[in-house]
Formats: sequence, C-alpha cells, structure tokens
Amino acid sequence: MKNRVCELLNIEYPIIMGGMSWAGTPRLAAAVSNAGGLGIIGSGAMKREHLKEAIDKIRTLTNKPFGVNIILVSPYADELIDLVIEERVPVVTFGAGNPSKYMSRLKEAGIKVIPVVASDNMARMMERIGADGVIAEGTESGGHIGEVTTLVLVNAVCKAVSIPVIAAGGIADGRAMAAMFALGAEGIQMGTRFIASAEADTHENFKKLIIKSTIRDTIVTGAPLGHPARVIETRFAKKVRELETKNLQEAEEILVGSLRKAVVDGNIEEGSFMAGQCAGLINEIKPVEEIIKEVMEEFYTTIAKLCNALREWKK
Ligand SMILES: Cc1cc2nc3c(=O)[nH]c(=O)nc-3n(C[C@H](O)[C@H](O)[C@H](O)COP(=O)(O)O)c2cc1C
Repeated sequence: MKNRVCELLNIEYPIIMGGMSWAGTPRLAAAVSNAGGLGIIGSGAMKREHLKEAIDKIRTLTNKPFGVNIILVSPYADELIDLVIEERVPVVTFGAGNPSKYMSRLKEAGIKVIPVVASDNMARMMERIGADGVIAEGTESGGHIGEVTTLVLVNAVCKAVSIPVIAAGGIADGRAMAAMFALGAEGIQMGTRFIASAEADTHENFKKLIIKSTIRDTIVTGAPLGHPARVIETRFAKKVRELETKNLQEAEEILVGSLRKAVVDGNIEEGSFMAGQCAGLINEIKPVEEIIKEVMEEFYTTIAKLCNALREWKK
C-alpha cells in the first residue's frame, strides 16, 4: 500500500504498534516492523541505559524502520530524548502531553515526530510546532486515555489538521481500519491487538484475559487521581475503583507498579491489565504477521464492498 503514512515512515502498511510501557518490547516491535508495519519500543519508566539496550536489541532483530514511544511524565524524558537523537531512531511517538520543548531538536536530527493527541486543539498545536503527523487516540483505548471517543475525535482531528492522522483506540480489525479511513485517517495504531500476539512477551495470564473479555469488560481506574487508564475489570481493578471513593491515597499506592505486575508477572491480584474495549473483539492469539495480513485484507474487502454497494445504491 502507498499513502502518506507509508511514505512518511517508510513502511509497507499504515499500521503502527501503540507505544506500550512494559509490553512494547523489542521482540514485539521487531515483529511488527518485519511484518511491514511500524514497531514501537515503549520506553515507559526506562532509564537511558535500559532504552539503549532495547534499541541495540531491536537492531539485531530487524533492519526495518522502528520507533520509540516516550511518555512525557517520565522523569527520564530528557535523557531519553538525548539518546534517541544520538541513536538516530527513525520515529518518536509521545504519550499524551505537550512535547513542544523537544520538537526542534528532534526535527533537526531528522527524526519523524508523531505525538498522541486527545483533542482537535492539541492536534492543531502539534501541527503548528512541526509534528509530522498525529495519533488521535480515543477513550476506547487501553492504557491512559482522554475523554472523547475515537469516532468523534478522529473526525474532528482530520478536519483540524492537514498532516497525516493516525487513528487509535478500539481498532482490532480491518473493518475498523476502513471506518477510520472513511473519517480521513491515513493510518491506524493498535495496542491491545498486538498484546494478544504470539511475539508479545506479555504474560500469558494477560493474553488470556484479553481473549476472554467481552466489549463490556473494561473499566477506567485512576480518574480521580488525574491519570485515567482503561483496564480489564479484574477484582483488583474493582478494588481500586472502590478505594477511589474511600481512600484515594491507598488507591494511588496500590496502583504504583501495577502495570508491571500485570505485564511481566501476570499477577491477577495486584496487576493493572491495561487493555482497550476492543479486547472484546479479539478471540485468538496470533502471530503478528497474520494479524497485519488479516487486517489489511479485511480493510481492502470492506472498502471494496462499500464501492460495490455504492454502485447498487445509485442504480
Ligand atoms: C498495556 C498498555 C500500555 C500502554 N502504554 C502506553 C505508553 O506507555 N505510552 C503511550 O503513548 N500509550 C500507551 N498505551 C496506549 C497505546 O499506545 C495505544 O494507543 C492504545 O493501546 C490503542 O488502543 P487499543 O488498545 O484499543 O488498540 C498503552 C496501552 C496499553 C494497552
């Protein structure tokens, strides 16, 4: 496929792996890049030396383009920015927040910069300061979320900017990809779908929870603490929600390190299993290459069906 996102990122299909703390390992990211998408290392809470190791690792696994996701709340953001510039990482995506202060240095280094946005205003601002594209991430997403649905957000962002828009949140198949392209998106980003893959290093318990989930099995924790995150509704998640009404400090304490406990340890009792509503659309753990092939095939057939339907409607 050829479009602006493929050309910008030098990839075969306009499918990006969501940057995911703990879950976005070099192995998974390399699998996505090797399958023609853009794999992203989730730097999360990493320090410089950990990200350096991850970058070295991915370079042994693929010679295709890849990216690094940096969360702006990380205390190590400055040193990670220095590193991605030194390492000439092809693409940097930012977790929601304002990456303005890093923009000119990254651009001067020839790095493609694609921030995540949760509003059309933020998208406009990112375009003004020189972003190469934006990821419009709706509230259906796994992980930390904004308030606007993907349907409304992507529509508004596509109207607001002329740089390429990548849609994220709730997308796990080619039908959803086609819907996003109908709104004007030129690429998609998937997180939850790639966790439920053969190459994800994420604990089996996490993958099984995604497979078991229905579309109603996620809830939002952390909202009263100012960092709402969509997670699978486990006993732990329910406990966090209850504490949020009774003892906010305790809620905050048990949330610390809980994503790691879910992703690395598969700890059902103490882990935050961050996943999107589209977990309910995912029924099988598959190799990344198969996921990407299926998404692309369904994307094309969905659009072809619509084109045929149009001919019928207009007869
Ligand atoms: C376990 C998990 C961790 C995540 N961590 C991050 C992160 O560190 N930075 C970020 O920008 N987005 C993060 N996200 C959001 C993803 O990058 C992506 O936008 C989101 O998963 C898309 O929605 P979906 O899960 O419905 O596909 C995370 C998502 C999940 C599921």
